[in-house]
Amino acid sequence: MSSTEAGATAAPSAPLSTADVILDVQHVSKAFGAIVALADVSLQLRRGEVLGLVGDNGAGKSTLAKIICGFHQPDSGKILLEGKEIQLHSVQDARRHGIDTVYQDLALVPQLPVYANLYLGRESTVGGPLHLLARSKMRRVAREYLRSIKVNLPNVDADVETLSGGQRQAVAVARATRSQVKVLLLDEPLAAMGARESSLIIDLIKDLASRGQSMIVVDHNYTHLFELCDRLAVLQDGVITFDKLISETSLQEMTDYMVSEYRNQLGTGRTERVNGANGP
Ligand SMILES: Nc1ncnc2c1ncn2[C@@H]1O[C@H](COP(=O)(O)OP(=O)(O)O)[C@@H](O)[C@H]1O
Ligand SMILES: [Mg+2]
Repeated sequence: MSSTEAGATAAPSAPLSTADVILDVQHVSKAFGAIVALADVSLQLRRGEVLGLVGDNGAGKSTLAKIICGFHQPDSGKILLEGKEIQLHSVQDARRHGIDTVYQDLALVPQLPVYANLYLGRESTVGGPLHLLARSKMRRVAREYLRSIKVNLPNVDADVETLSGGQRQAVAVARATRSQVKVLLLDEPLAAMGARESSLIIDLIKDLASRGQSMIVVDHNYTHLFELCDRLAVLQDGVITFDKLISETSLQEMTDYMVSEYRNQLGTGRTERVNGANGP
């Protein structure tokens, strides 16, 4: 049975129907002193979509992720969640709205066991103080949750510092998705990982995607992104310069595009090119 909500004209597969947009970043700018990290960035994430955000170091990817998760506040522009503007003053605010992040620099406590890390920072959002939860219950819930998202760890009692990088990342993803999340941000989830560890995380992201989790994945490996994403956006010097469905582009097109962008940079210099991309 189809929904009879507003927006009657949109075909079910129409990629840009507003009803499909879960997160709408509108004209966001952010500077750190003289450095313009983001210049009028607009980006939409559709419900159940995996959006890849790619770009060089310093392009502004983490800044954008940190604005969406409430860590930074934009200088201008706004963020809409399910069509409503939201004001995010903190990461807790964003969590309350159902936006959570796995940071590039992992926010786990290495000296605590896996199960405890899954509850970190959750006290206020879960609704019950952490210390009142029986440890055995925490362990059991942690074990069940990890199993349900197909993360195999030797033991939920193991301290995080004893885990491999891939296992730690899996715990970080598990923690972010443990409560209902509308939008999950993953900032370079595969950074500094070997092939085997990467495939652990790729499988985890794919599993979440297959359950309809809306996600933004920041990475700079196109091969990974083509494997994971429904859509790709390129951020260059604080500006979105490319935004296409994976089905409408190819690894070859992306590679050609980036090579030509590098040639432009070499030819005209960064500043000039950025001004050109921004202005009329
Ligand atoms: N807290 C900060 N203070 C000052 N400059 C920052 C800060 N965070 C990021 N920047 C600068 O903003 C730009 C974008 O950084 P970032 O968003 O981390 O890029 P990316 O994640 O794409 O590598 C860079 O020039 C970076 O040095
Ligand atoms: Mg970054």
